[in-house]
Amino acid sequence: MANLSVEIAGIRFSNPVMPAAGPPVRTGEAMLRCAAGGAGGLVSKTISTRAAAPPTPNIAEIPHGLVNTELWSELPPEQWIDHEYAVARGAGLPLIVSLGYSADDIAWLAPRVRPFADAVELSTHYIGEDAGPMVAAIRAAKSALDVPVFVKLSPLGREMVRAAEQAEAAGADGIVAINSFGPVLAIDPKTRQPYLGGNDGYGWLSGPALKPLALRCVRDISRAVRIPVIGVGGVSRGIDAVEMLMAGASAVQVCTAAILHGPSVFGKIAHELDTWLDVHGYASAAEIRGLAVEGMPSAWSDGKPVVVEAACNGCDVCVLSCPYDAISIVDKLAVIDDEACARCGLCVTRCRRGAIEWAPAVPGALIAGKRRVGRGT
Ligand SMILES: Cc1cc2nc3c(=O)[nH]c(=O)nc-3n(C[C@H](O)[C@H](O)[C@H](O)COP(=O)(O)O)c2cc1C
Repeated sequence: MANLSVEIAGIRFSNPVMPAAGPPVRTGEAMLRCAAGGAGGLVSKTISTRAAAPPTPNIAEIPHGLVNTELWSELPPEQWIDHEYAVARGAGLPLIVSLGYSADDIAWLAPRVRPFADAVELSTHYIGEDAGPMVAAIRAAKSALDVPVFVKLSPLGREMVRAAEQAEAAGADGIVAINSFGPVLAIDPKTRQPYLGGNDGYGWLSGPALKPLALRCVRDISRAVRIPVIGVGGVSRGIDAVEMLMAGASAVQVCTAAILHGPSVFGKIAHELDTWLDVHGYASAAEIRGLAVEGMPSAWSDGKPVVVEAACNGCDVCVLSCPYDAISIVDKLAVIDDEACARCGLCVTRCRRGAIEWAPAVPGALIAGKRRVGRGT
């Protein structure tokens, strides 16, 4: 078994998989279920100075994800302070309390949640693109609290790296990236209406469709700041957590997969991560952090696809989807025409059997050196 424990801003998590703010952590009881499901830490649903009143319907499943137009917690802050956080603390896991939004909101909320919080996470979802309100909210949290203050960034068109740098400069102890993306639109052809309520039917995209954007943001931010990054967006399997850690995250958060598959998904992801680390010879989750942060070696880009004959069963998936008609099946094996091949690389990921690999111009160029990033492990 690999060592899955990670330390982020001085807080020790037994494994790097935790819920993200959202319906799976909407009450203290719900958070206990996440803990029982194997989460290594807890994050609570975002609260603000008043209860939210979201439009309905507000969550819909679409291919490869969800769209939602939930807001923050529909419970008043007093109920969290008087009851829900104390219940969640019964899990015995580190608790990150999510708060929103303005500096005034944070100044009111922060001292009240302090007795329960191992850290706070500031949502920047509804405070616009300017750094000013975010920086003011961080300062309000820092002056009221002696626990780490994490900042959760929303990919609204905002320049994420710049926002992370500004958050770090304002004293943030960690970055959580990313919140759901939008606004987006999903239409139900049966009703000829958007699935979601509200004035325009717009929503926010989450789940597997979000993962490539999340990975890009996590990697870019990890390169730019010294503080730890927690990766969120489309994590639903151990391999997604592997990718997020390799992109520079110290831990991952999960929302959509927990909505769709229940709270046991946290333990499942942690177990799959453990198995992957074992199979690939890593002793700990911390060891793979940042492995994909280095730039690509040029010998990698200069490579080409090659067929691994032992794995090829002669199916024609690669033939059908090669945009350059460069692959044919000869004697039940894929053969790549070197002249016609444009080195696009699609066949490498299209083959489900791993029978086509990218061969770098210099063998071994793939094994880039590990670079340490940030303070977390
Ligand atoms: C229904 C729903 C409600 C959410 N509520 C919040 C919230 O209250 N605060 C917050 O910071 N993020 C919220 N999020 C965003 C998630 O925490 C997460 O950043 C995003 O969904 C991407 O992760 P995922 O792909 O694992 O869902 C919500 C997401 C969903 C789907």
